[in-house]
Amino acid sequence: MKFVVGRNFSGKTAYLKAIAENKHVYNGPDATHYLSGIASTVRDELTLHGYRDKLEISLILSSLGLDLVLDQSPYTLSGGEKSLLCAISCLKLTNKQLIFDNTFEQIDNIKKRKLFDLIKSYESFDSQIVDYRIDELPELEKEIDGNFVEQPQHEFEDIKDCTIIDSIHETSTVELDNITFSYNNKKNILDNCQYVFQSGKIYCIMGLNGSGKSTLAKILTGILRPGSGYILYNGKKITPFLSPGTTFGYSFQNPDEQIFSSTIGKELGISGRFNDTQEYILNLANSFNLSKYFDQNPFELPFAMRKRLTLAATLAARQPFVILDEPTLNQDPQNALTIGNHLKALATAGFGVIVITHSSKFVNLLNPTILRMENGKLTDYVGN
Ligand SMILES: Nc1ncnc2c1ncn2[C@@H]1O[C@H](COP(=O)(O)OP(=O)(O)OP(=O)(O)O)[C@@H](O)[C@H]1O
Ligand SMILES: [Mg+2]
Repeated sequence: MKFVVGRNFSGKTAYLKAIAENKHVYNGPDATHYLSGIASTVRDELTLHGYRDKLEISLILSSLGLDLVLDQSPYTLSGGEKSLLCAISCLKLTNKQLIFDNTFEQIDNIKKRKLFDLIKSYESFDSQIVDYRIDELPELEKEIDGNFVEQPQHEFEDIKDCTIIDSIHETSTVELDNITFSYNNKKNILDNCQYVFQSGKIYCIMGLNGSGKSTLAKILTGILRPGSGYILYNGKKITPFLSPGTTFGYSFQNPDEQIFSSTIGKELGISGRFNDTQEYILNLANSFNLSKYFDQNPFELPFAMRKRLTLAATLAARQPFVILDEPTLNQDPQNALTIGNHLKALATAGFGVIVITHSSKFVNLLNPTILRMENGKLTDYVGN
């Protein structure tokens, strides 16, 4: 296993694509693109990729904690579950070369370690991996290959600090009152979940893949309706499902599920009118280096830039609370640091900031209240 290191846009992806002997061995940051698109269950996806032995499937899946989702559609998996399925699937497609270009960032550290052990056990494989979070697994034996140039080679520049021109003076609260939720009336993903969030603070929600973090974000934003329980804003019941995105802005885990406009300018809400909202958006666009690309289709930009676009678009909407699901995906440590500074400035300005991440380094730099999602409940995080 070799790790290719380097800054954002230093040429790693071009190098990896050039050395890939056949296109199936290259996997990028969004696992959805590497699913077959024709299998209706995880089991079928694996069979399609060459897993014929039921025992082999169940051993691999249970070791990675995926045995519970065997009969689920691959498209309904959580971000990390999808990345794991993508990785396991391509183990059968090749017997020598595997390339993972930031494919593993959304996998929790326990499963990531197990996945690396599994890949290592295929001794004949030549695996090349890019992962900006790899030093969060310090015990992993690394072979660094191709130390790329320190400075980005592309026109895309680093994210810059941004002045927050808004501030919210009154403290507000959001209370989760016994929220319970299940998909298709199966297992409760959230189970009497309770918590009170306050504006002006940063919260980080951690927890294993599939524990329900993004599900909670979707309920607070109004994409999903809770099965039971209430959400209270400043003590009054609200129904986000009936007026989505009014109290909470949500930056999706996968930016491609959030982008819906044909140009970057439209996605950010840029219009010809000059007012303070437009000034705020332009300010954000400059800091995320998007101003040059207003007329471009978002999908012409690389994944790292699409992630920045959706962060900027979420912040541009200026709801009092924001939930950022894996905001530093595909961002090198320097850019992650600037995103962190931005979130700290937002909280200082009085916004409520909720970050969902598997990156312990990012959590440490935010100095937040840390919560853990486990067994459908949010609990204060204690220890490791
Ligand atoms: N539409 C759906 N239908 C059925 N099950 C679903 C659906 N969406 C998500 N799930 C399941 O619900 C569980 C919780 O998913 P969720 O996306 O909230 O997890 P998560 O904590 O965000 O995980 P990750 O760290 O991988 O992002 C997962 O096991 C997932 O497979
Ligand atoms: Mg998630």
